Formats: sequence, structure tokens, C-alpha cells
Amino acid sequence: MRAVVADGAGGPEVLSVQEVPDLTPGPGEVLLDVAATAVNRADVLQRRGFYPPPPGASETIGLECSGTVAALGDGVEGWSVGDEVCALLAGGGYASQVVVPAGQVMPVPDGVDLVTAAALPEVACTVWSNVFMVAGLKPDESFLVHGGAGGIGTFAIQLAHALGSQVLTTAGSPDKLELCRSLGADVAISYRDEDFVQVAREATGGRGVDVVLDNMGASYLPRNVDVLATEGRLVIIGMQGGVKGELDVATLLGKRGAVIATSLRGRPVEGKTAICASVVEHVWPLVADGTVKASVGRTVPLDDVRDAHEHIDDGTHTGKIVLTL
Ligand SMILES: NC(=O)c1ccc[n+]([C@@H]2O[C@H](COP(=O)([O-])OP(=O)(O)OC[C@H]3O[C@@H](n4cnc5c(N)ncnc54)[C@H](OP(=O)(O)O)[C@@H]3O)[C@@H](O)[C@H]2O)c1
Repeated sequence: MRAVVADGAGGPEVLSVQEVPDLTPGPGEVLLDVAATAVNRADVLQRRGFYPPPPGASETIGLECSGTVAALGDGVEGWSVGDEVCALLAGGGYASQVVVPAGQVMPVPDGVDLVTAAALPEVACTVWSNVFMVAGLKPDESFLVHGGAGGIGTFAIQLAHALGSQVLTTAGSPDKLELCRSLGADVAISYRDEDFVQVAREATGGRGVDVVLDNMGASYLPRNVDVLATEGRLVIIGMQGGVKGELDVATLLGKRGAVIATSLRGRPVEGKTAICASVVEHVWPLVADGTVKASVGRTVPLDDVRDAHEHIDDGTHTGKIVLTL
């Protein structure tokens, strides 16, 4: 089989496609022939040496894929050789084959082609688990997602809009703000030129925002707490703005607010299995009827993995970058 191998940590130039030993599925695992995988910001961190795989996971980069079931490990039920699927991975997606626990394999939603399906597992599982399962966003509540034009953001805007929430988002350029509006954002805020707290307060009649999905971490912590409504929930999923911030406990307490931080990749298989099942039940029907779409900004062959990583490094991409086998 072929896989992207990293020659040490560093820039895109450390990545190359090489022949590597074939894989065999263990008990409870499924072997997939990969059709496509997709690039996540976490892949960049792993390439740079800052985000090692969890214990037992493949050293190969890649948190999601689509493909065809090639073999089943002992005890796997519900899947057959030849099924077209997509999967949430702890690693190993940038390869022609991958093994994955059966519970992290999902059907390709009706109406979605196999290549596009590679762009769905990570965003669907992250957004659904954090915004709806953890933060419990309700239809009459307001929702702010930072980085609305990125992979996570484009999906979060569509899903929250489809389920009836007022959606606010931030982005870094006029084109990206326009993309966010086209996906269903009611309010798109330039994080370069505007104060998102002030704009969000005005847009919510002074109440503030019920749920914030945050990719920035430390640098946005005070303002994210500030922007919360009474009984609001801030869910931190990224640290693009650093790791140590100052929390105004008095403000949080006065609002009876919650600050939650989660990581999908490091969860046990049982947790990921439950999230995948919930995504298939609640999110896939909205994808199948076209209400929510995978936002694919670019599709390139796996052999051009360096180009794809240069593109995500320079921050000009929108939505997801898909790598095809
Ligand atoms: N914890 C988890 O389980 C989990 C799972 C998946 C993803 N994540 C995290 O979620 C984040 C998004 O991931 P992704 O794969 O969607 O990455 P991505 O497509 O590269 O998106 C990154 C986003 O960050 C935005 N951004 C940069 N500077 C910003 C600022 N000052 N204020 C607001 N937004 C800013 C960018 O906005 P512009 O393009 O408009 O500049 C872009 O939309 C990453 O931090 C990633 O690590 C966490």
C-alpha cells in the first residue's frame, strides 16, 4: 500500500508518498481501500511535530476518509466487503488503505459521491458532538462559530442554521464573510476590523450568544466569556490563539455560564462510536436531502499532498481540501 510519510517534523516538504507495509484488520476493525481523505488543521500541527497521534493510533496523518470495505476483522457485523463508506479516524487517512474500529465507519449519506464523503466525518462529528450533544444548542438560541469559512465553520453554520438557530460567525476577508452569509450565517463579522462582542450584542438585542464554538483558545477567552448570554456555553475546540488565557470567573459565575474544552481525536473508541451513531441518525438525513453540504474548496491528488498543505498553511483556503487516491 501507499501512504504519506513524514520525514521528521516541519513544513510541507517533509511529506512524501511512499510504499509501506500492508495492513490487516484486528478484531472489531474494518480494512478500507481509501478513495479520498481530507486535510484538517490538526494535520498541520501533527506535521510540525506538535500533535502526536494518541497511543495505538497510526503514525500516518489523516483523521478521516471515504472508501470501500476491503476486509473485516473478527467479530465485525453490519458491514460487508464492497460497501462504500466514510470513517472517522484517529490517524492513518493519508494512505491507500486504513484500518478503523467498526463503530467509526459510517455509510456515505445518500446523494453524496464517494470522494466528497471524505470531507464529512471530522466536521460532522466535531460540530454535532460539541454544539448539539455537549452544548445542547436549541432552535430558538443564538450560536457564534469563529472561523466560519474554514472546514469546521462552513459545516457548523449550515447545521445550526438548518436546525433553526440564529447564526453569527467571524472570518478574515470580505470573500470569506460572503461565503459565510451564503451558507446561512445571519451575521458575519470581520475578526480583523470589527469587535465581535459588540456586533454580537447588537445582533442579539443585548442578550449575548447562547453557544460559542471557538477555535482560538487563549486569545479569545475573555471576549468569548464576555459575549455569552446568561446560561451560555462556550466550547473550546482549538488553540490557534494560544494555550493559556485569563478567565474572568466573576463574569462567568454571574452569567451561570459554562466553559468546556473537548478533543475528538483522543476520545476512546466507545465515545467516538456513540458520536458516529448520533451523526448518522441526526445529521446524515440533512446531508442526504441537501440541506447541509460538504464544503469542498479544493480537490487534489494525494501525490500533491505538499501543495495541499502549503495551501492550508497560507490560510487562503475555504472549506475543506480533499486528497484523492
Ligand atoms: N477539538 C477537536 O476535537 C477539534 C476537531 C476538529 C477541529 N478542531 C479545531 O477547529 C479549528 C478549525 O479546524 P479546521 O480543520 O476547520 O481548520 P481550518 O479550515 O484551517 O480553519 C481555521 C479557521 O481559523 C480561522 N481563524 C484564523 N484566525 C482567526 C481569528 N483571529 N479569529 C477567528 N477565526 C480565525 C480561519 O479564518 P479565516 O480563514 O477567515 O482567516 C479559519 O476559518 C482548528 O483550531 C482545529 O484544530 C478541533
